[in-house]
Amino acid sequence: MFDVYELPEEHTAIREAVRAVCDGKVAPNAAAADELGEFPQASYDALRAADFHAPHIPAEYGGAGADALATAIVIEEVARACAASSLIPAVNKLGTMPLLLAGSDALKRRYLPQVASGEAMFSYCLSEPDAGSDAAGMKTRAVLDGDAYVLNGVKRWITNAGVSEYYTVFAVTDPAARSRGISAFVVEKSDPGVSFGAPEKKLGIKGSPTREVYLDNVRIPADRMIGEPGTGFATAMQTLDHTRVTIAAQAVGIAQGALDFALGYVQERKQFGKAIADFQGIQFMLADMGMKLEAARQLTYAAAGRSERGDKDLTYFGAAAKCFASDAAMQITTDAVQLLGGYGYTKDFPLERMMRDAKITQIYEGTNQVQRIVMARQLLAG
Ligand code: CAA
Repeated sequence: MFDVYELPEEHTAIREAVRAVCDGKVAPNAAAADELGEFPQASYDALRAADFHAPHIPAEYGGAGADALATAIVIEEVARACAASSLIPAVNKLGTMPLLLAGSDALKRRYLPQVASGEAMFSYCLSEPDAGSDAAGMKTRAVLDGDAYVLNGVKRWITNAGVSEYYTVFAVTDPAARSRGISAFVVEKSDPGVSFGAPEKKLGIKGSPTREVYLDNVRIPADRMIGEPGTGFATAMQTLDHTRVTIAAQAVGIAQGALDFALGYVQERKQFGKAIADFQGIQFMLADMGMKLEAARQLTYAAAGRSERGDKDLTYFGAAAKCFASDAAMQITTDAVQLLGGYGYTKDFPLERMMRDAKITQIYEGTNQVQRIVMARQLLAG
């Protein structure tokens, strides 16, 4: 098992390999994906060619078998170059985690190899128009009819909707049981009755499509249920315990990208006859940014260790890492814009994009207010 204070050689090598791919083949597409609001297919192809599109899939299902720390490092490095592209490995993990945690071997063998090879992506459908933070208040129904379930409802804020071939859909199978009456299913894009809303017009991560998913009398074989009836909500929460670590990693990557750019700029930019990096006011800002970033990274890697081992305190650490790292990323990217002054506010430089992209990490996979609820409940439960 890895020591979070000094990365094993293997993890350092993974970081170098992802960085090389991202510097060469992902970063150059980031501004256009943002500007045009288009999925960065060239970045996907580059990540797929290097096997970084879904690194967490275990080797027995044809995947790279990266552990939770290696997966976090991949997502961090992709986010450093392009936050929207980092949702490719991140959402593939989010979408498939319910299967990995609770799916039958037959379901895993049917779907995971396609994600491992890059033929298909997998999205996660929990939220609804009227069920965001209160996920257990969902209305989507799944009714057993012979040997099939029939699904009806609307899922909202679904990352990579339309691009993904497969969807983990959470739906109510027993309305009287609230969270214990929710079950998880695999739904395929090609299932009759599945359709998508218009892409949301967002502040950031514009290269990653976010759309509603409509389920209109979608009839699927009963064996596409993940786990037992009524266990879906617990599976959804366990999944988020693991994947909040990946959002923390995404936030760390966005912040690192902003700090790296700002560090270069302040040494070049001259005012009052010297580089602005020579002013103590600028140096203090840089020091604070670096300090917060490293604290966020260490907490993220500590949470990744818990995710890999399946420790009991992962729920706490996943929420803490996501909350701390995303707040840090928002502060660091905002300060990076400030360091560039008027230039930082323009699209001639990548920092305004990074600042907009950072904002979502405080919102998705549970707002940071929800993370504080989760942490406080864990603390009080002892
Ligand atoms: N692991 C296992 N089980 C868990 C769990 C966990 N981490 N958390 C809760 N549960 C279980 C509880 O034990 C309980 O089970 P029992 O009834 O058997 O005791 C059940 O789930 C209900 O738990 P709570 O009473 O705590 O549930 P709640 O209704 O109070 O909700 C909440 C708690 C933390 C607020 C939760 O609803 C939550 O996390 N909300 C935020 C949802 C969220 O993160 N959405 C993000 C969507 S994904 C996304 O953003 C997608 C994208 O595409 C980017």
